[in-house]
Amino acid sequence: MRQDFMYGQAFGRWLISSFALSFFLLNVAHAQADKALYEPTIAQAGKDVIWVPTPNDLVVKMLEAAKVTPNDLVYDLGAGDGKIPIQAARQFGARAVGIEFNPDMANLARQNAQRAGVADKVTIVTGDIFKEDFSNATVVTLYLLTTLNLKLKPTLLNMKPGTRVVSNSFMMGTWEPDLVINPETGGRGALTPATGGRGYYWIVPAKVQGEWSVTGLPGITTANLSLQQKFQKTEGTLTFGDNRSQRVVGKLNGAQFTLSYKDANDKEQTFIGEVAGKKIYASLQDSPTTVITATKLH
Ligand SMILES: C[S@@+](CC[C@H](N)C(=O)[O-])C[C@H]1O[C@@H](n2cnc3c(N)ncnc32)[C@H](O)[C@@H]1O
Repeated sequence: MRQDFMYGQAFGRWLISSFALSFFLLNVAHAQADKALYEPTIAQAGKDVIWVPTPNDLVVKMLEAAKVTPNDLVYDLGAGDGKIPIQAARQFGARAVGIEFNPDMANLARQNAQRAGVADKVTIVTGDIFKEDFSNATVVTLYLLTTLNLKLKPTLLNMKPGTRVVSNSFMMGTWEPDLVINPETGGRGALTPATGGRGYYWIVPAKVQGEWSVTGLPGITTANLSLQQKFQKTEGTLTFGDNRSQRVVGKLNGAQFTLSYKDANDKEQTFIGEVAGKKIYASLQDSPTTVITATKLH
């Protein structure tokens, strides 16, 4: 009996010390895991640009400006600690990819995505933004430098019309932003002159420069439209079959093309079309059932 009691006591002590040891080892493991997290320093060198994280409020405003939804695939070029892709997944439900050159940083971004519970939606690629393919992105986010934005500009302009691009601080040269983001003014970003913004937003425009033959304009058999394009802005000449011609100004919002002209009765009309390669399918704002087709000649 006494032996049983002593055996019970010894077993109890063994159980307690085992628990204590396991608890201690678990803590050590956690401490080591935390210690293993790479700790970057603000402004540390990067391949083409230093690391500085985008402030939290601006991350949200940039993603709001781009109207990110769960249907989007967001790419952050130069992803740092992964905060933009992580927020795109966590708050907006998007799938997101970060491209980061520094392998330690990329690893940290992966660990951060894991800790934020969005590892299933966020992929971090260790690579160079000038070599990796991001052509399937629907939204591209940037916090680089103007020189790097300019280097990326031709690639961005060749992306699918309607792709949204958002940049912290740095602009895109002569490609004016569609929206300037100023979190201080509230809302999803305010349209203000393109100065003093904290972020900038562009929508990749469809390419419409050239000569078009237009059928379906009310009262006009065929018309010829000659367009010059500067990014999202267009201007040109619309010539009716009887050789009457007029200067016209248009605007692109991704693949959506809006053009104002004066009809055969000198009434101001707005043509709203969808650009699909060498065709534009359109109608008039005042008469949405009108079927207008423009075909690219060259
Ligand atoms: C200013 S930080 C921005 C980080 C993050 N996008 C953000 O807004 O919080 C720029 C990041 O780009 C990375 N970087 C620099 N050159 C790169 C390159 N050629 N390819 C991929 N990443 C690059 C740097 O290591 C750094 O983490």
